[in-house]
Amino acid sequence: MIKKHNTSLLAFNTFNIDVKAKCLMEYDTVEELISIVGNELPKFNRFIHIGGGSNLLFMSDFDGLVVHSLMKGIAVVDEDDDSVWVEVQSGVVWDDFVEYCVANGWGGVENLSLIPGEVGASAVQNIGAYGVEVKDVITLVNALEIASLQPKEFSLDACEYGYRDSVFKSKLKGKYIITTVVFKLEKTPKFQLGYQHLEAEVLQNGEVTLANIRKTIIQIRESKLPDPKLLGNAGSFFMNPVVSKDLFLKIQSQYPTMPHYYVSDTEEKIPAGWLIEQSGWKGKQVGNVAVHDKQALVIVNKGGATGGEVVQLATTIQQSVLDIFGVTLSAEVNYV
Ligand code: EPU
Repeated sequence: MIKKHNTSLLAFNTFNIDVKAKCLMEYDTVEELISIVGNELPKFNRFIHIGGGSNLLFMSDFDGLVVHSLMKGIAVVDEDDDSVWVEVQSGVVWDDFVEYCVANGWGGVENLSLIPGEVGASAVQNIGAYGVEVKDVITLVNALEIASLQPKEFSLDACEYGYRDSVFKSKLKGKYIITTVVFKLEKTPKFQLGYQHLEAEVLQNGEVTLANIRKTIIQIRESKLPDPKLLGNAGSFFMNPVVSKDLFLKIQSQYPTMPHYYVSDTEEKIPAGWLIEQSGWKGKQVGNVAVHDKQALVIVNKGGATGGEVVQLATTIQQSVLDIFGVTLSAEVNYV
């Protein structure tokens, strides 16, 4: 177990915001987590459990307890002729898990290559990319209830997954800490190559294999998304808005080439990056923050930015998209 007082959170958030935590505790076992929650947490006014810090924006020093999992176990818990069930502890780096699955020839998570963050947070956020969401491979989530210090199993249904959403972000927010996630992977992978030009891009790297899909996704992500080690960011800053069919048709009549995804007969999803680019924000810098020049959905810290500066730019962009398109953008990033 690691315990630090008045410590920098620079290494704990991919936006590279230089704030301090009153106390930071990292645990290696569930027993240590129970001891932290039972004995330490009540001493503080505020508490947050973080993962890789890839979806957080710290607005100021955190005057409370920050808790982080160092539990890094991966174990096969069941298998049959077709599938393998793998239980993964919360502190495993998400992409290390993807690499492990691809190396074993197990399909299901290869399209989620290089997404930053850790396994526990992946199940809170329902991370997704290139036509796959993590809910597609989750079968069970194990968590610790903060109030009772008792373990609780969540079936897939009980997790109430939606687009970048789960019960852990909504009605049970702050009530449970995820300890392990069980994933079901396929021994004979069913490749998911329907997203945009993914199949053609994979074929440029050779045959369709798990390793080539992973390689291609990494190439695509690296070409569009900034490396947080070089340029602080939290991936997509906004979610792609779902709008009514009426509003969609109104915008489409003015912008016939607008990309869009079918949601239902009454709703369409429009890429927020497209709306932001059309509003003139792509590549624009204001003080220490900017809209990424290769993907307008990403806000970057050009160095020394505060959380307040990031929010100010995000709010201006939201207003601009609302004025021009009548569409409300919601942040995917959580403000702390
Ligand atoms: N687009 C623009 N301008 C931009 C960015 C995008 O016109 O600056 C257009 C693209 O040309 C394309 C469409 O918008 O037609 C969609 O772009 P892209 O495929 O890059 O995906 P996205 O909708 O911008 C989503 C996820 C990403 C995920 C990609 C790939 C959200 C909020 N974002 O982005 O997730 O990697 O699809 O599946 O759903 C993340 O959550 O941090 C993240 C990066």
